[in-house]
Amino acid sequence: MITINEHYLKLQASYLFSDIARRVTAFQKEKPTVDVIKLGIGDVTMGLCPAIVTAFQAAVVEMGNDATFRGYGPEQGYPFLREAIAANDFHSRGAEVGVDEIFVSDGAKCDTGNIQEIFSGDSRIAITDPVYPVYLDTNVMAGRTGDFVDGRYQGVVYLESTRENGYVPALPREKVDLIYLCFPNNPTGSTISKAELQTWVDYARENRALILFDAAYEAFLRDPSLPKSIFELPGAREVAIEFRSFSKSAGFTGVRCAYTVVPKECTAYDQAGNRHSVHALWHRRHSTKFNGVSYPVQRAAEAVYSAEGKSQTKAQIDSYLANAELICTTLDQLGYSYTGGKNAPYVWIEAKMDSWQFFDMLLNQAGVVCTPGAGFGKCGQGYIRLSAFNSHDRVAEAMARLKKSLS
Ligand code: MLT
Repeated sequence: MITINEHYLKLQASYLFSDIARRVTAFQKEKPTVDVIKLGIGDVTMGLCPAIVTAFQAAVVEMGNDATFRGYGPEQGYPFLREAIAANDFHSRGAEVGVDEIFVSDGAKCDTGNIQEIFSGDSRIAITDPVYPVYLDTNVMAGRTGDFVDGRYQGVVYLESTRENGYVPALPREKVDLIYLCFPNNPTGSTISKAELQTWVDYARENRALILFDAAYEAFLRDPSLPKSIFELPGAREVAIEFRSFSKSAGFTGVRCAYTVVPKECTAYDQAGNRHSVHALWHRRHSTKFNGVSYPVQRAAEAVYSAEGKSQTKAQIDSYLANAELICTTLDQLGYSYTGGKNAPYVWIEAKMDSWQFFDMLLNQAGVVCTPGAGFGKCGQGYIRLSAFNSHDRVAEAMARLKKSLS
């Protein structure tokens, strides 16, 4: 008899963004004349930059010619892309990352979801609340949690991120093994200072823990004092893995390219306390289960680091940040409290009512889609998230509608 992985039965009915998409589709079916503006899922709306398109097209042409065609590529990614990543994203900021410590992949969602596979089933996980649901759900699937009781999975250490602590959680009081941090944060848009992040690195070193640092939104950081990479901090190479993505930084949500950095010093232990290289484990997993990102996509990603690519992608991000500013200004005028939107594409808003109720109200009264904070965890109840990923005109229209329905 074939039996199922019963841990799946503990999961909530559906993935947050699928749930929202279903509700929006139902609404649109019922009210087809409403022009719905989506500020829910953080999906980019601007076309790929010209420098990226040119490189992408040239690589596709190469693939159509026997002399320049490429079959299976290196599982870890082509050296041309990994070299560009190491030089531009790390060495330029004084962070030591080797080319062979970079694993190119098809998405940070997949990587942050898959990474837990190489750690033991009884690892104690610590996640922030609110949190990007992938970190939690993938650990539920792997059996690292108990049942879902009163809005939380048993056995998980929740690190509360609230208005009181500026949405940067305190260190756990108990010992944990695997810590998920995301800064600039999804969903709250909060940022972490170097000094605050250093306390996490120090905690991990003292407790033989490991930090999974999701930096998918680092391109939105405009405050130069804030860390873009955890590897800017001393000691982090022993205790941290970092996830990056071209999705939000270069508009690759539909193209798919990301990377994960696993330093060679990064260590985990077996039950007897012997040290093991996390890099070696991830390399084994990656080369067994993944066959690399396509050549044209990697050439397109490489073009992000050209002079034109840098200025064109920066202009796109500036434009999303201008949308975020417009959202913040509108909220100021409406008297709503919020955080984020400065060095992040998300604005986290105190809804003054139940999250899903606010979601329904905004959809019905203004035709605007937000993300209910409760979908990110218990601490998200009473909040909603607005995403700045849309055109300036659509965000301006959404804000005009918000003013009308909320004032
Ligand atoms: C979000 O809206 O939180 C993100 O777009 C989800 C993702 O990147 O997978």
